[in-house]
Amino acid sequence: MNSFTYRYPVRQHFGKGCAENAIKEELDRIGQNVLLAYGGSSLKRTGLYDKIISWLHERGKNVVDFGGIMPNPTYDKVQEGARLVHEYNIDFILAVGGGSVIDCCKVVSAQVKLDEDIWEMQYTKHQYPTEFVPMGAIVTASGTGAEQNNGAVITHTKKKLKQPLTGAYYSFAILDSDLTRTLPMGQVVSGAFDTLSHCMEIYMGKPQTDNLSDEINEAVMRNVIKNLRELIVDPDNDFARGELMWDSALAENSLLKLGKQTDFQCHMLEHAVGAYTDCNHGKALAVIHPVLYRHLLNEGKEKLARMAERVWNVKGDTVEQTAILGIEALEAFIKEIGLPSHWSEMGIKDESILRAAADTCLLMPGCCKQFSRDELFEILKECM
Ligand code: NZQ
Ligand code: ZN
Repeated sequence: MNSFTYRYPVRQHFGKGCAENAIKEELDRIGQNVLLAYGGSSLKRTGLYDKIISWLHERGKNVVDFGGIMPNPTYDKVQEGARLVHEYNIDFILAVGGGSVIDCCKVVSAQVKLDEDIWEMQYTKHQYPTEFVPMGAIVTASGTGAEQNNGAVITHTKKKLKQPLTGAYYSFAILDSDLTRTLPMGQVVSGAFDTLSHCMEIYMGKPQTDNLSDEINEAVMRNVIKNLRELIVDPDNDFARGELMWDSALAENSLLKLGKQTDFQCHMLEHAVGAYTDCNHGKALAVIHPVLYRHLLNEGKEKLARMAERVWNVKGDTVEQTAILGIEALEAFIKEIGLPSHWSEMGIKDESILRAAADTCLLMPGCCKQFSRDELFEILKECM
């Protein structure tokens, strides 16, 4: 493995039904003026909003609402949140939701401490924020593992870019599987596939030689596949729901990344297409992954073959055949769990969008192949 320094700042509260006790414990540590951040209608519909408000009021907190954070959060929404933090002298941000709410708040927390525009600062000057408003997260949709890291994926609608920004780490994350029970099964599946995608993106990174991080990763991938299958059959299976939630956290809490340079080229393609289409993250990853992996059959075949044997339990007569069987197993799994295999199933029909996405996509140094923009365009077209 490559050298690394490991420090992990997020306190984790995991368990079915753990949210109330966990938040009450955390509330003693936080400031007085709280920005309560959430998405669209789900928080109020499920009754969780009222519970959280009463827990905050019990501890005498002043609460300012920051609702309406959309899937694929926008840069404008970040700026709206930053204005609220200034206006109400906020000293703690409580994010309640999935990856979109959680990401949006990471950048709000950083933008507030800056006199300049955080997007320009990071993408023009290559400078990164160092001061943040403290934050905590209550996860209601797992899969992204966004509560575990300090990277946020934000859509800049004017620039037509969906890209990562560095923000703050959460000081705590509450992972209570009960809170995900109201999530529609389609989003559960999309989230769990996102977790599997994170594992694969880390696994396919460099070095490609055997290492401990990848051994642990294989166990997480098998666990996602097994528990997602069980949860689809029985949505009341709280054990499987909890396992998937912790899989999601493990894939993004740095552990699997130790000693590795990650790949994430598939993610960057999804982000580039997402900037033009506002597509669902997990669904688009499902469309791109198998096609992308066929383009890695030369440079990445040993690793693809290892994944085929250890995760999908398939083996051919040669390394290449085994790698191909693994990709076919991945494709079959995507169909089995009801995710799309083609852009047409997601209403994406315009080739010019795919060309623009290939031309703006970030190129990842951790991918075992350095793609030309034309080949990325070919990959996106093959997804049609
Ligand atoms: O907005 P509301 O009404 O709350 O509905 C949401 C939303 O429509 C709903 N939902 C969430 N919890 C619910 C619920 N509905 C019922 N019951 C609940 N308990 O779920 C929908 C999707 O939510 P969203 O947060 O958008 O989904 P997800 O968690 O998949 O996050 C996607 C975003 O995360 C980014 C993606 O690019 C995308 O922008 N990612 C962030 C990553 C990171 N920071 O590490 C890594 C990922 O690779 C990903 O890129
Ligand atoms: Zn993802």
